[in-house]
Amino acid sequence: MKTYVVTGSTSGIGKALAEEYSKANLVFAGFRNEKLKLEGKNIIPFYVDYSKPETIQPAIEFINSKTDKIDTIFNVAGCVVAGAIELIDMKELRRQFDVNVFGALELTRGLPINKVINISSMSSFGIYPFIAPYCASKRALDILFNLYSLESGVKVVSLKLGSIATPIWSKSIKENSKVLETPNGYESECKYLVKNALKNEIKGMPIHKVIEKIQKIEQLSKPKPSYTIGLDAKVAEIFSHFPQDFINLIIENKLKSMH
Ligand SMILES: NC(=O)c1ccc[n+]([C@@H]2O[C@H](COP(=O)([O-])OP(=O)(O)OC[C@H]3O[C@@H](n4cnc5c(N)ncnc54)[C@H](OP(=O)(O)O)[C@@H]3O)[C@@H](O)[C@H]2O)c1
Repeated sequence: MKTYVVTGSTSGIGKALAEEYSKANLVFAGFRNEKLKLEGKNIIPFYVDYSKPETIQPAIEFINSKTDKIDTIFNVAGCVVAGAIELIDMKELRRQFDVNVFGALELTRGLPINKVINISSMSSFGIYPFIAPYCASKRALDILFNLYSLESGVKVVSLKLGSIATPIWSKSIKENSKVLETPNGYESECKYLVKNALKNEIKGMPIHKVIEKIQKIEQLSKPKPSYTIGLDAKVAEIFSHFPQDFINLIIENKLKSMH
């Protein structure tokens, strides 16, 4: 029996991973909402809310009191802060980094980890206007953990996922409703963002498919530091390798076409 940590285990990818891995392993499953916490024979739920950094150390102490070895941590917990950069509340920008970057790093560093699998995103390629905080957080996650891996020798794998059909899309619309719905000069762009999010929640890659891919990668004895998963993510990766002025020209034209 191996030991895993799965953060964000109450919904979407994290929930599916915790359910799958707990069939034959011990899983510490992170939750921030008591009502949603995952229970099961091989599941030990632990509370952590990354938007409240004071909850991270108690989570570390709780897990360390129950085990001295963790085979793999899946850093899954995440959220999306959206809107025009000039209008985003600085508190929200900081929350984005607390949840998607600093929380994952602090928890991981505090545990006896053998391998880290981070659920990053094609947004890490940094090409999506109006979700810049999310893009920047995923890029920061990738950079911090890759260099942490080189310094410490801990194996780290970044999974840059394309669109997956999970509740994150409708949650994002709800969480960002103030900035998306208030007239601010970017109405067309916000409307496009919402339409696209609703489409992705239905047409994204099914969760079970992404879980199969993650499991295959997790089982490799020598995984690569990064995998790009999904056709949309692969296209984004190729596009991101073009010169910045070319990338910007294409994005500017796309933005103009929304008016
Ligand atoms: N879905 C996609 O298209 C996609 C694509 C690329 C990358 N990703 C990444 O995949 C990961 C999982 O997302 P998902 O699509 O499965 O979305 P999801 O269903 O919304 O799951 C996100 C999980 O993170 C938890 N979480 C949110 N804020 C948190 C906080 N402050 N502290 C601790 N936990 C928190 C959520 O808890 P609650 O249940 O309480 O909300 C939930 O368990 C995220 O890191 C996301 O960026 C998703």
